[in-house]
Amino acid sequence: MISEKEYKKRRTRLGRRLKPYSVAVLFSATQKIRSNDTEYPYRQDSNFYYMSGFREDNATLVLVKGAKEVHSYLFVAKKDKTQELWTGKRLGKEKAKESFYVDDVFEQEEFSTKLQEFIQKKQRVYYDFKLDYSKVKLLKRYAKTIQSYENLATLIEKMRLIKSKAEIKLIKKAINITKKAHHKAIKVSAKLRYEYELQATIEYIFKKNGAYSDAYTSIVACGNAANTLHYIENNNKLIQGESILIDAGCEYEYYASDITRTIPVGSKFSQAQAQLYEMVLKVQKEIMKMIQPGIFRSALQEKSEELLCQGMIELGILQGDFKKLFKEKAHKRYYPHGIGHWMGIDVHDQCPYKTIYGEEFALKQGMVMTIEPGIYLDKEDKSIPAKYRGIGIRIEDDILVTKNGCENLSYEIAKEINEIYSLT
Ligand code: GLY
Ligand code: MN
Ligand code: MN
Repeated sequence: MISEKEYKKRRTRLGRRLKPYSVAVLFSATQKIRSNDTEYPYRQDSNFYYMSGFREDNATLVLVKGAKEVHSYLFVAKKDKTQELWTGKRLGKEKAKESFYVDDVFEQEEFSTKLQEFIQKKQRVYYDFKLDYSKVKLLKRYAKTIQSYENLATLIEKMRLIKSKAEIKLIKKAINITKKAHHKAIKVSAKLRYEYELQATIEYIFKKNGAYSDAYTSIVACGNAANTLHYIENNNKLIQGESILIDAGCEYEYYASDITRTIPVGSKFSQAQAQLYEMVLKVQKEIMKMIQPGIFRSALQEKSEELLCQGMIELGILQGDFKKLFKEKAHKRYYPHGIGHWMGIDVHDQCPYKTIYGEEFALKQGMVMTIEPGIYLDKEDKSIPAKYRGIGIRIEDDILVTKNGCENLSYEIAKEINEIYSLT
């Protein structure tokens, strides 16, 4: 768990970054309609959660800064018996005051009056620039003395780049649950008939272990389906002799895991599958060796492309001179995506890759990212040797940048071919 003290510290740090005489307003996520009158399960806005730890909807966090001093206020939904009968208990103002280390708590109904008060004589308003226009209008209604509007999300998302010890613990827990799910998938794949059965098995393990949601829609792609990068239909038959790409990770207490394993249906990889698998695995290991503070993600990208291009030439998937092929980016056809992304409260953590001046951030201790090289060889692509057609391989782990290098947080999830075989 993240302690109240830590949330308070985050607000203090954010407060320091605000310019004098400003108000920062952060809204909770709204309920999203799935269809007609049914809703998706509620999920708090990531930036709001990061700054408050508050999980209910209809809430607002406000930071008010004077010359130097900063005060923080939380607005929550009021306790209402009739409403609560339908949609569940609310914490309410009094309890929220006890549990959250903000300067004061109000009911959401008081927001407009209080905002008017806070905003008086201020020069700046910070809000998330992706905010709904109706809410922006509300913010601007009382902003008579405001000289500029600034994007609050940019400040918070930069803070989210570096994970605290408590955050890393939650990510590790998410990964540990995901490990159980992937290992179970390896064990039962021979006995199941459809991709969705395997998906259900994985998601059952997530829930059974206290992760009530996936961090993203699971991809369970048998054979050629693995060559559709965002394949989520998961409704094909599992066919003996093919490989399955499983990209699935749970969210635990608001923290993601993001793991891909490619496994054989049943017992063993074919020779062609194993060759491709070993090639991708070697690339992944090489890239992980490079990770340390000071390295740029773009350098990892470049190296992964170089190594995969070479690997494709060695296997006869690309033909010709390395330099020429690499320059033409011929490998992109079979490795079209990035080497990895930030991960945290969001699977693709909404943290910046560049400064506001467009300079890339170097890796730093405490950052968490995925490393996920892959190769995707479509069955219709006649330029590929026939034995490799219809195979898609990706291997993805979650990596913490440490003081002198990195830690593979998901190292316990079977990855060597022998380890995978020993689980089937
Ligand atoms: N699961 C999404 C990704 O790997 O980026
Ligand atoms: Mn990923
Ligand atoms: Mn993934």
